[in-house]
Amino acid sequence: MNTRTIQAAIVAAFLLAAVGAAKATEAPYKVVDGKKVDGNTLNGWRTWRGMACERCHGAQQEGLVGPSLVDSLKVLSKDDFKKTVLHGRMEKGMPNFDGSKQVVDNIDYLYAYLKGRSDGAIKPGRLEEISK
Ligand code: HEC
Repeated sequence: MNTRTIQAAIVAAFLLAAVGAAKATEAPYKVVDGKKVDGNTLNGWRTWRGMACERCHGAQQEGLVGPSLVDSLKVLSKDDFKKTVLHGRMEKGMPNFDGSKQVVDNIDYLYAYLKGRSDGAIKPGRLEEISK
């Protein structure tokens, strides 16, 4: 390898790393006007409603007996989110939802919905699907 090829390889490696970083920070949801979301995120919202997480976390995820998820999802990793929702923290009052097929099947989308709420991109309340 001559110097030029090595330089080119280094530039290519940096570009790949940059693309990777951009992908990692890409939002897991699509939203238009705060009220219209992609089908997956809509299923996340339906799961939130179906499980009535609002009983403890508030209708706008602002917190009630459970913490504000608007705040939590700014710091909680996706893995920790999944672990908490699926296995619960029984001793602290957070039930486990791994017995719910709806939650298990939609856990990524539930995360996407709540992340959108936490980012302030998705408005509270009823959502509809972005028309195709
Ligand atoms: C019976 C009340 C209750 C219900 C229902 C409930 N939660 Fe919780 N949740 C809690 C409590 C209390 C905590 C705080 C546990 C702790 O102190 O670590 C919590 C914690 C969490 C956390 C971790 C927050 C953090 O900052 O670490 C997430 C995420 C979460 N809940 C999501 C959900 C979702 C999603 C649902 C619906 C599928 C749900 N919860 C339903 C009571 C509830």
